[in-house]
Parts: sequence; C-alpha cells; structure tokens
Amino acid sequence: MKTRILIAALAFLAAAPAFVTGVVAADGPAGPKLPSGPHPITLDVQAESTHREIVDDVKNMRNYADQPPLIPHAIRDYQIDLNINKCMTCHDRRNTQGSQAPMVSVTHFQDRDGQTLGTVSARRYFCTQCHVPQTDAKPIVGNSFRDFDAVLGTAGREGGK
Ligand code: HEC
Ligand code: HEC
Repeated sequence: MKTRILIAALAFLAAAPAFVTGVVAADGPAGPKLPSGPHPITLDVQAESTHREIVDDVKNMRNYADQPPLIPHAIRDYQIDLNINKCMTCHDRRNTQGSQAPMVSVTHFQDRDGQTLGTVSARRYFCTQCHVPQTDAKPIVGNSFRDFDAVLGTAGREGGK
C-alpha cells in the first residue's frame, strides 16, 4: 500500500514541472499576443460619433406590399414589456384620434389561426421585432433588390398596373 502511494507521489512530482512550465509559457513573452486597441489605454480618446436617426415623420415607401413600414419618428426609451406598450399609447385604435398616428392594421389583431381578436395579438405585441427606425448610416454591403414593378417593367405606369 505504502509503495503504491509513493509511486503515485513520484508520478505527480514528475509531471508537475511540465505543468508549471506550461503556465509560465502562457504568461511569459512567448505566450499568445492579445489584440490591443488602436490607442494606448492611458490616452483619453473621444468616442466616434454615432449615426443620426431619421426622425422626419415622413412615411417611407414600402418595397413590397407586406413590408412592415419603417418607423419615421424617434422611439428612444419607448418601453415595451409586460406592463406597458408605449407604441400602443398612440397606435391603438382607441388612441389614434388624439395622437393622429396610423392605427395598427387588422393583421395585428389576428392570431396564428387567422382569428381576429379584440386587441393586438400576442405575436404582434413586440413592435420592434418587425418595425425599425432608420439612421443616416451608409449600407455596409451593396443591395441589388428590385421591387415587383422593376422586375415586371411596370414602374412609372399609372397605379403601377
Ligand atoms: C407619441 C405618439 C407615438 C408613439 C408613442 C409611437 N408612434 Fe409611431 N407614429 C406616430 C405618428 C403620429 C406617426 C405618423 C408619422 C409621424 O408623424 O411620425 C407614426 C408612424 C409610425 C409608423 C409608420 C407607419 C406608416 O404607414 O408608414 C410606424 C411603423 C410606427 N409609427 C411604429 C411605431 C412603433 C413601433 C412605436 C413604438 C416603438 C411607435 N410607433 C410609437 C405616433 C407615435
Ligand atoms: C410580426 C411582425 C410585426 C409586428 C410584431 C408588428 N407589426 Fe406592424 N406591421 C407589420 C406588417 C407586415 C405591416 C404591413 C402589412 C400589414 O398591415 O399587416 C404592419 C403595419 C403596421 C402599421 C401601418 C398600418 C397601416 O394601415 O398603414 C402600423 C402603424 C404598425 N404596423 C404598427 C405596429 C405596432 C405599434 C406594433 C406593436 C404593437 C406592431 N406594428 C407590431 C408587421 C408587424
């Protein structure tokens, strides 16, 4: 029994130096180099300006009939959670006269079985899942989307027909 413990202890001691050197190597100059920022950490650099939100209240053309319209106004700090849906304080059927906001369309009242409910359906509750505001940022990648009229060559005709 005693010899077995002795052998185990010796085996551990034999392995230990390799383990220790491994740690030292990772910390030392030979270890992997972590990427550093463009500025030294001690320098007080002003943050880059963020892009400006487009909040001109001008309705955007939809690129296809089913597109969720883009939000043309500011929505910063608009709360949407279990207790309150800030969007509905203006876009709810009952509030549109006071707010002059367009009412959420009837599709927002339909549940997944196509039944029209009395109020906004749970699957349309989190408005910003589909509706987004825009900024003046330039697109990072190109976009070759052509709408229905462009594809059929009917653009410019009256009523798009
Ligand atoms: C204070 C009232 C108010 C609140 C709150 C509000 N909206 Fe609006 N919204 C409007 C009005 C008014 C318009 C009409 C255009 C304009 O004046 O900006 C509008 C327009 C829109 C449109 C464009 C509709 C179209 O046909 O192009 C969308 C989409 C929209 N809002 C979504 C939202 C969402 C999503 C929220 C919550 C994050 C929200 N709104 C909160 C008042 C409001
Ligand atoms: C699952 C995606 C989705 C969610 C979530 C959603 N919408 Fe929409 N919304 C759409 C689509 C698609 C349209 C355009 C077609 C239509 O009316 O269904 C639309 C249209 C609208 C319109 C224009 C209605 C009109 O008749 O011009 C308004 C306003 C609007 N949504 C507001 C909201 C608000 C406020 C919420 C949150 C309570 C919301 N939407 C949640 C997809 C969504």
